[in-house]
This record gives sequence, C-alpha cells and structure tokens, in this order.
Amino acid sequence: MGIDQRRWRWWNAVVFIGMVGVTGSNSHEKQKQVVSRIAFGSCSNQSAPQPIWDAVVDFHPQVFIWLGDNIYGDFKRPFKIFGQERTVGPWKNVPRFVPSSEQEMKTRYEKAKSNPGYARLQQNAEVIGTWDDHDYGLNDAGKEFHGKITNQKLLLDFLDEPQDSPRRKQAGVYASYMYGPVGRDIKIVLLDTRYHRDPVGSDGTILGNSQWLWLEKELKGPPTALTIIGSSIQVISNLSATIRPLFAMESWARFPKERDRLFKLIADSKRAGVFFISGDVHFGEITRYDCALDYPLYDLTSSGVTQSVEEVVPHFLRSFVRFVAWLTPSTMRVKDQNCRYKSCIYGQTNFGTIEIDWDSHPVTLKFKVRDKDSIMVTGVDVSLTELQPSNSEVLDRAKTEHNNSKHCTLEVSLPWIVRHRLAILFFSALFVLLVVFVVLVYTCFRFCRLESCKRKHD
Ligand SMILES: *[C@@H]1O[C@H](CO)[C@@H](O)[C@H](O)[C@H]1NC(C)=O
Ligand SMILES: *[C@@H]1O[C@H](CO)[C@@H](O)[C@H](O)[C@H]1NC(C)=O
Ligand SMILES: *[C@@H]1O[C@H](CO)[C@@H](O)[C@H](O)[C@H]1NC(C)=O
Repeated sequence: MGIDQRRWRWWNAVVFIGMVGVTGSNSHEKQKQVVSRIAFGSCSNQSAPQPIWDAVVDFHPQVFIWLGDNIYGDFKRPFKIFGQERTVGPWKNVPRFVPSSEQEMKTRYEKAKSNPGYARLQQNAEVIGTWDDHDYGLNDAGKEFHGKITNQKLLLDFLDEPQDSPRRKQAGVYASYMYGPVGRDIKIVLLDTRYHRDPVGSDGTILGNSQWLWLEKELKGPPTALTIIGSSIQVISNLSATIRPLFAMESWARFPKERDRLFKLIADSKRAGVFFISGDVHFGEITRYDCALDYPLYDLTSSGVTQSVEEVVPHFLRSFVRFVAWLTPSTMRVKDQNCRYKSCIYGQTNFGTIEIDWDSHPVTLKFKVRDKDSIMVTGVDVSLTELQPSNSEVLDRAKTEHNNSKHCTLEVSLPWIVRHRLAILFFSALFVLLVVFVVLVYTCFRFCRLESCKRKHD
C-alpha cells in the first residue's frame, strides 16, 4: 500500500536501463569480464511472495541461473496459466529483481542514490536459464507433451532471448554460455531434461540424439577453467532408491544408462573443473560422487525460491520433517558440521551461490546453499586442483581427508535395512497404529456388549 509512484517509476527506469545494459551492452566486453559470483535457483510460484530476491540481489551475482519451475505454468489445473500471461508483469524474468517491500525498495533507493555503482551492480546480473516440468507445462512430463513448442517460445520470451536467437529454432531449450578471459573462463551448459525425455522407468533417453551431439561438441571443445552443467533434475543423488515406495523423485539416476553415458562423456572429454547444479526437489543439498570420473563430481542443488518441503507442512510438523530428512540415508550428500541442520538438507526457501576466488593459489570455489537472509545452510570449499582429471592422487587424498570413501557407494548398494529404513519405520508405525485401533475397537465392542447385557439383566 502507498507505494510512492515516483520512486516506483524511478525504480522501473533503473530496471529498464539495467535490461538495456544486459541485452544491448557490448557483449564482447562483458564476456571478457572475470566472473566470480554466480547465483542460481528454481521452483518459484509466481503467485506467492518471493522475499528471497532481496538476498539474491544483495549477493551481487554477475550471473543468475534459473534451473526450472521458474514459474508454475501447468497446462492442467490447478496451476493453469496461459500464453502471454506467463511472460509478462511480475512473472517475467528481470522484474523479479524488483524489491519485495516498500521498505526494501527505500533501502535500495538510498543505497543507489549515494552510490551509483550499486544500482548498476544490482541490475547487471545476466539472467539465463532452462526449464523443468512445471514451466515445460505438465508435472513430470517428457517428450510426449503436446504443448512443448508453444511453451518453448514462452520460456524464451520469459528469458528475454533475442528474437533471432538460434535457440528459438531448435527443438528444446538447451544452451551454453562463455564468460571470462582465457585462464579464468567459465562455460555454463544448460540442459533440457524435458523436450526429448522418454518416460520414467523406460531407462531410455533424457537428452535425445540432437542434444547429445550438441553436448559432446560443447564438452569436447576448447577447455575452460570451469564448466558448470545446469540440469533441472538432480544428477548425483538417487533419492528414489531410499524413499521408495513412499515417494519417487525424478532424477538422472532413474535413467542409469543415460547417467553413465553422461559421466563417460565428461571423462572422455578430459575436461577439468566440471560440476553440476540442479533444482526440482524443494530442498537444498550438496552431493558428490567420487567414482564417476578420476576427480570428485559435485552436484549443488537449490530448490526452491518459494516451494520447499517445510513450507507445505504446519509449523509443528517441521521438526518431524527435519527428523525424516536426517533419517533418510544418503551416500552422496556432503555433510559438514557447518550445516544448519544435522541432515545437511535444507527444506526452506533457498538459493545457491558459487564464489570463485581466482586470485588465491590454488583457485578456490565456495559452493553454498543460502537461506532467505543469505546465510549459509550448507556449503563446501573446493580447490580447483581437486577437480583435475588424471589426478587420482588428489582424489585419494581428498577421500582420506574428508573420510568420504562412502561417496563411491551407490544408494542401491546399501544394506537392505539401511536403504529402506524410512519405509520400515513408516510401515511399522502404521502397523502399530492399526493394532492400537483394532484393540480400541475390540475393547469398545466388548464394553458395549457388557453394558447391553447388564441392561438386559436389569
Ligand atoms: C502458489 O501460490 C498461491 C498463493 O499463495 C497458492 O494459492 C497456490 O496454490 C500456489 N501454487 C503452488 C503450485 O504451490
Ligand atoms: C536409483 O534408484 C532406482 C530406484 O530404486 C533404481 O531403479 C536405479 O537403478 C538407481 N540408479 C542408480 C544409478 O543407482
Ligand atoms: C573413516 O572413519 C571411520 C570411522 O568414523 C574409520 O573407521 C575409517 O577408517 C575412516 N576412513 C578413512 C579413509 O580415514
């Protein structure tokens, strides 16, 4: 209420200038700029408040990456929103960086007034992204979804993709980006895990032929210091293996052949500094697999900007959700005493950040998942020398130092009782409840009969 119209317009002007700056700027110069701050996020309900953007802006990302479910635009109810609606107004890409409250707007306005660099900084983030099922158009949908051509256009409008971009002509929204000068260069590869995907359970393809050919070219092309592969669904964790039959999640692990092909391609490419970022699951975590390549393969998961597992349960059940998270076995999750919770899973709104210290020797990377106040909830520091191929010595040392030999065990190889402990607990609890119920009913029945007998006798 009572938003000062003049300031609001002023703010929009800043946003607009920022947009022009991003889309129309000298891209050559931009690409030569050293990039050392990247943020990413996923799963953002356009109808819900999104206070987390203040923290994202305050992080000053140079690049922000959408990892899918950037809006909930399902073709079917209850989330149905059509056509242009998906690309305009508060749902569009850049204005997400508009402050969430009048107070926040004032704070930023004051900061920007006294420091012109600040306004520029906020709006200079280049925003790129891919999609997941809900902005693709249907929950858990794959190649069979009929609305994919229309929705590809809508996603690309949402991302301000230029009209003449080749990305508008290909089948699927996969894309790659290059940042930074030689030696400090970063390649960001964004996958499309929807357009060509076979049904879950088929062990078929996720990427499809044309995307595989493209990816091979991308990865076998000129080396870069870092290569970030963005996938809407998790690549390393196989949560389904440990939470079935209670729940099942989409992930690369549900397509084991396709996942092995991805690992083999990265290994064959001899690329250094490759890691994944992902979204989808409505919580944040960092996982790591040490037996895919000859260096550890990380997957940083941040989900979601609004959608999170704890937010859908009543307050008093949140501790229970955290307990269940802790109880869920995982062989890949990176655990550290600096995590907010013991499980090292974070089930409230969050975003992910990658900070690169190019000046340190060796170059260090800080991977973090942050809460809505930008405070770290789980994180890990990795030295770039750890992420070099043919460096089994480093891998062995890393394994010993972190005592992480378990990051080699697949979830499906866990002892049966460990792997299924969540389901065992659930069904035991259900069984106990059932027994209690039966006993109660029986007692009632006996008691009532006794009463009616008594009454008859009387
Ligand atoms: C999005 O938020 C609105 C308003 O809070 C809510 O009614 C709707 O159910 C939410 N949608 C999803 C997918 O959570
Ligand atoms: C992941 O778990 C599913 C379900 O248990 C299983 O079918 C699949 O083979 C597992 N994938 C990997 C890579 O272990
Ligand atoms: C890891 O820790 C366990 C106990 O916590 C110990 O038995 C094991 O030897 C350690 N492994 C390495 C490689 O240090």
